Amino acid sequence: MITLPGLIDPHVHLREPGATHKEDWDTGTQAALAGGFTTVLAMPNTRPPVTDAPSLDLALSAARQKARCDYAQFLGAGPDNTQAPAELAWRTAGLKMYLDQTYGPLRLDEMSVWMAHFSNWPRELPIVAHAESRTLAAVMLMAALFDRPLHVAHVSLREEILLIRAAKERGLKITCEVAPHHLFLTQEDIPHLGGGRGEVRPRLASAADRHALWDNLAVIDCFATDHAPHTLAEKDGDNPPPGFPGLETALPLLLTAVAEKRLSLDDLVLRMSTNPRRIFNLPEQPETWVEVDPQEKWEIRARDSYTRCAWTPFEGWQVRGRVRRVVLRGETVMQDGKVLASPGSGRNIRA
Ligand code: DOR
Ligand code: ZN
Repeated sequence: MITLPGLIDPHVHLREPGATHKEDWDTGTQAALAGGFTTVLAMPNTRPPVTDAPSLDLALSAARQKARCDYAQFLGAGPDNTQAPAELAWRTAGLKMYLDQTYGPLRLDEMSVWMAHFSNWPRELPIVAHAESRTLAAVMLMAALFDRPLHVAHVSLREEILLIRAAKERGLKITCEVAPHHLFLTQEDIPHLGGGRGEVRPRLASAADRHALWDNLAVIDCFATDHAPHTLAEKDGDNPPPGFPGLETALPLLLTAVAEKRLSLDDLVLRMSTNPRRIFNLPEQPETWVEVDPQEKWEIRARDSYTRCAWTPFEGWQVRGRVRRVVLRGETVMQDGKVLASPGSGRNIRA
């Protein structure tokens, strides 16, 4: 048995308020604990989106009643909240800027709006950008000109990781995350996943892109799931929404990579605990750890999972390494696949 610190997922979509048939704060945080995560940072593309005090209150009140692990909620950058009051900002995980097309209405096209957010958001709080390809180059320049740290969500392309590497070599304050699905799947898997089940933003990329991510592991600060549950009826329907669930498969997939010597356990802990804690300025969780059997071989099956969306793009994958027990603030909150934490026991780390 090995012991890991409580893992942090800085990028999850928990769907509440507004789409609790896909997930809610209860099922999503159960999935988190089952996957070894003791802290999750929730994205703001809910319905309504979290962009102001009333919508933040709505999300946080659901979280307060239901969350079983610790959490914080991102604010979505919109055209009307560039002057978000500082006290609102301090109640959030950080600011999320959607600069490319994704699920939900929060896309910012006007560069003048980006600039207003960069000049007004408190410098001590993170800004996370969904920015692909050329948009990434644009927003990185803007962050550099405003001399403030920027965290880049779900890097998926060779050109992106190389751009971030070059920026880091120049001393720019850039950090980034990569999602397991971009490390383990490519566009060649889409036909086998079947139509809408392969839809995700950023899209699954080429084998060359995937290799570039592995080759530049040193440039990757965090592994973040981008847990984005949609039901199978939606994924298999006419207009499939993009997104994969990921909370329950991230650690086993990465532990399998450790078993295969593609990365070390230290590499994993750095990117799933140490670095996200530093980048997002999260408090230590005392008496919190995750016990893992690194040898156990098992098969990923959606029917054994907690996420409400009831499917996984990794169905049938043989993995090595299983979470046996999770202890959060001295309490056993997950043991042998059973979540023991009660709804509402999770804490808002920004409260
Ligand atoms: O595939 C995605 N799904 N990418 C995103 O950026 C959003 C997410 C969602 O909310 O479903
Ligand atoms: Zn996302």
